[in-house]
Amino acid sequence: MLLSLWRALRLQCIILCTIFLYKALGASNSSSQPPSNLPPAVPSVFAVEANILIDAPINVVWNVLLDFPKYPDWNPFVRSQIVTDTFYIPTQDQQVAENLRLIITSQIPPLTPPVTASSQGNILNEHITRENITHFEPDIYRVAWQDLSLDLLIQAERWSALSVFVDQNGEAMTFYESREEYNGVLAESVQDLEGVGLLEGFQAQATALKARAEA
Ligand SMILES: *[C@@H]1O[C@H](CO)[C@@H](O)[C@H](O)[C@H]1NC(C)=O
Ligand SMILES: *[C@@H]1O[C@H](CO)[C@@H](O)[C@H](O)[C@H]1NC(C)=O
Repeated sequence: MLLSLWRALRLQCIILCTIFLYKALGASNSSSQPPSNLPPAVPSVFAVEANILIDAPINVVWNVLLDFPKYPDWNPFVRSQIVTDTFYIPTQDQQVAENLRLIITSQIPPLTPPVTASSQGNILNEHITRENITHFEPDIYRVAWQDLSLDLLIQAERWSALSVFVDQNGEAMTFYESREEYNGVLAESVQDLEGVGLLEGFQAQATALKARAEA
C-alpha cells in the first residue's frame, strides 16, 4: 500500500517536474526574464510560484517583506504573520531569525485588494499554520519557512528571494520571487482543493508588495 502510494507520488512528481523544468527552461530562454535568486527547485508533488519586478531599491523591498507586523495593512493573502519562540510565544521585537516559529493566518483565495488592517477576512477561507524559519540569508536576500502543522502528512517550504535586475533602459529594479514546494501524502489533496487559490494568493501578495514598496 505504502509502496504503491510512493510509486504513484514519484510518477506524479516526475511528470510535474518535467513540466516545471520545461517551463523554467522556456522562461529562462526569453531575454526579458531576470535570472532567479531562488535555490534550485526540489522535486515536489506541486509548486506554487509568483514573481514580479518592483521599481524600488532592494533594501526597501526587503524591509517591507520582513516587516511582518505590517502585513495586515497591505497583504491580501497573508493577513497576519507573527514571529514566535519555539513555544509559540510571540517575540518582543518580531525580528526574523532561523529556528524561530511563525503563526501565519492566510486567506485562500486571497481578499480582493487593496486591503487595510480592518479588511474583514472570510472565516471559511482562513488558514492558520505554524511554521519554522528554516533559512534566513539577509546578505543574499533570501528567507524560507516550513509548515510544521501537519508535518507527517505534508511538507511545504516557502522561499522568498530578492535580486537586483537592470532592465533594458539601464534602470535598476528589484526582482521578487516566491515559491512553495509541496510534498507528502496530502500534497495532492492540497493541490486539488487549494492549488488555484494558493496561486492567486502568491500573485496577489506579489502585486501588493510591489504597490507597497513603490509607494
Ligand atoms: C531559445 O532561444 C533561441 C535563441 O535566442 C531560439 O532560437 C529558440 O527558439 C528559443 N527556444 C524557445 C523554446 O523559446
Ligand atoms: C527549524 O529550522 C532550523 C534552521 O534551519 C533547524 O535547525 C531546525 O531543526 C528546524 N526545526 C524544526 C522543528 O523543524
